[in-house]
Amino acid sequence: MARYLRLGINVDHVATIRNARGGDHPDPVRAALLAAKAGADGITAHLREDRRHISDADIERLMAEIGIPLNLEMAATDEMLEIALRHGPHAACIVPEKRQERTTEGGLDAAGGQTHLAPLVGAMGTRGIRVSLFIEPDAAQLDAAKSMGAPVVELHTGAYCEAEGSARQAELARIKNAAKHADAIGLECHAGHGLGFETVGAIAEIPEIVELNIGHFLIGEAIYSGLDSAIRRMRALMDTARAEITGS
Ligand code: PXP
Repeated sequence: MARYLRLGINVDHVATIRNARGGDHPDPVRAALLAAKAGADGITAHLREDRRHISDADIERLMAEIGIPLNLEMAATDEMLEIALRHGPHAACIVPEKRQERTTEGGLDAAGGQTHLAPLVGAMGTRGIRVSLFIEPDAAQLDAAKSMGAPVVELHTGAYCEAEGSARQAELARIKNAAKHADAIGLECHAGHGLGFETVGAIAEIPEIVELNIGHFLIGEAIYSGLDSAIRRMRALMDTARAEITGS
C-alpha cells in the first residue's frame, strides 16, 4: 500500500497580490484557512529576506490561527534561524535565496554548504522542528543532506515542469531515481516547485514521495475557479495518480 501523499499549500502569492497595493487584502491567513477546508494537509510560507510577499506578522498569525502544520521556507541565515527558533513551526525547509531572483531558482548546494548548513539543521532539529533541505534530484545532494542529519528533503521539480517532451521525461527519471535513493538512505522525500494540473500526476505516482508543496499555479488558477475548487481539483488529481500505483 502506497504511503499517503500530503498536500502543502503555499500562500506566498496571496501576499504578493496584497502587497501590490499595500493594506491587508487579500489575506494569506484567510487563504490558508480556506485551503485547510479544501483538503490541504499543511500550509507553506516563505519568509524572504526582502519580505517581498510573506511578512513577519503573517508568520505570527499563521502560527496562531491555521490549526494545521506550518512549513516555514527560509534562507540559511542567522536572522531566519532566530525567527524559526522563536516560532517553532512544525517544519522548516531551507532554500537558497538570491535577492534578484523572481522565485527560488535551483536547489540548495547541500554538498558544498555542509559547514554552514549543518549547525542550522541541528539547532532546528533540537527545537523539534522537522527540517528539510530543498535540493536538486541528485544523489550527491541527498547524501549530503543525510550526512548533516536532515530528516527530510524536498526535490526541486522546476526543471521537470519547465521541460517538454523527452527532456521532461529525462527530468522525471531524475526525480524518480532521487526519490528511490532518498528512501533507501532513510530520508523522507517531498517535492515541489512549478507543479500544476498537467504536471502533478507523474510526480504523485512516485511512491517514495510523501508530500507535495504547491503554490503559484493554484493561486493563479483561483482567479478563474476559486481557491477551494482549484485545491480540490489538485487533490483529486493527486489521489487518482496515487490510486494508479496502489491499484485501488
Ligand atoms: N517548495 C519550495 C521549497 C519552494 O521554494 C516553492 C516556491 O516558494 C514551492 C515548493 C512552491 O512552488 P510553486 O509556487 O511554484 O508551486
